Amino acid sequence: MEQKRIAVYITGGIATYKAVSLVRLLIKNGMLVRVAMTKGAQKFVTPLTFATLTKHDVYTDVFNVNDNEFVPHIALADWSDIALVVPATANIVAKMTHGIADDIVSTALLATDTPKFVVPAMNEKMLLNKATIRNLKQLVADGVHILEPATGFLAEGYSGKGRMPEPEEIYEWLQASFKIQQDFLNKNIVITAGGTQENLDPVRYLTNRSSGKMGYALAKVAQKRGANVTLISGVTKLSPPVGIEVKKVITTADMATTVKIAFEKADIMIMAAAVSDYRVANPAKQKVKKDNDHWLVDLVKNEDILKSLGKLKGKQILVGFAAETENLIANASKKMLAKNLDLLVANDVSRNDIGFGTDENEVTLLQPNQDAIQLKRANKDKIADKILDTILKIKN
Ligand SMILES: Cc1cc2nc3c(=O)[nH]c(=O)nc-3n(C[C@H](O)[C@H](O)[C@H](O)COP(=O)(O)O)c2cc1C
Repeated sequence: MEQKRIAVYITGGIATYKAVSLVRLLIKNGMLVRVAMTKGAQKFVTPLTFATLTKHDVYTDVFNVNDNEFVPHIALADWSDIALVVPATANIVAKMTHGIADDIVSTALLATDTPKFVVPAMNEKMLLNKATIRNLKQLVADGVHILEPATGFLAEGYSGKGRMPEPEEIYEWLQASFKIQQDFLNKNIVITAGGTQENLDPVRYLTNRSSGKMGYALAKVAQKRGANVTLISGVTKLSPPVGIEVKKVITTADMATTVKIAFEKADIMIMAAAVSDYRVANPAKQKVKKDNDHWLVDLVKNEDILKSLGKLKGKQILVGFAAETENLIANASKKMLAKNLDLLVANDVSRNDIGFGTDENEVTLLQPNQDAIQLKRANKDKIADKILDTILKIKN
């Protein structure tokens, strides 16, 4: 990363001590750094530590006016090429969302018109509180870059999402953000992910092995590249990606209704969910007792959502996934043509080292009248990037 002037805004969380290593790392990599701290942050680490590292006074007070910098918050905002808020408390996330300026950090951030990078770190319950989810989503919509908190051991003594990623990871994220092209800016992308569930009775259901990882990776990567992402998620154990609108569904019928509404405003629709092709004709109203040796279930076909979208398709780019266990390319090509798709991602789910539930994938991209593109085995974020690169070249 070329030399940048980075204003580091430090707020009062248990991860504040890690900001010391991050500031050192930034300086070691040739960045010019100045620091502002909230009163809360100063309870965890003293300004003296950062003043010593940066060889500059730390900004701690809006009204600490001196001769050189008459209005400190404006001086810092104007000086910086980048604003980095680390760790970002739930409090500063809320203040940034609402434009509150009641201390040096929030006031300088409001006065900043350069790119803002925020590293939220907090207790999992605070992170998953509807207010915080709403605030982070708004910040993303306002163009603020948010680093997904890590999952791991929290200061509270249990494991959960909300941990501040390590300084090296934060630096890599900053570097990568400057390289990432916003080539999906203002594009509305709807992505489906995960598996659906069809009830057999009130306590049992039919489902499949989809983990949702590929769809969630696509959502995350598309958002990084500037898209407005709507994620329609079947059942998965994954946490919602920060700043992305997630609509949760359970059955294929729910998925069909939600997808058709979203499709109207979509520029690109990526159907990565593994929906149930059949549902139980008459799910039992009460739990089925184990009195009989056999339980014959009558399954009826669900709506083929992809096929319906293929018929409804106007200018949208329609992307499907084919999970096959045999004759991958032949079966997938048939599906692509039958469903009027612009792109089909063919996935061999007979292998247990890739596909369902794993972090890696190896897929083939099929397009009408074009040679197949074989993507080498890679993690799902990298595969997602390649799929988006291919979508970008489709002209409808
Ligand atoms: C020991 C301790 C640890 C805390 N850790 C966090 C944290 O990790 N994330 C967070 O959002 N708030 C945390 N808080 C609460 C904040 O310090 C509190 O909301 C404060 O008002 C934040 O102010 P600031 O954003 O101006 O720094 C913690 C509080 C204490 C006492």
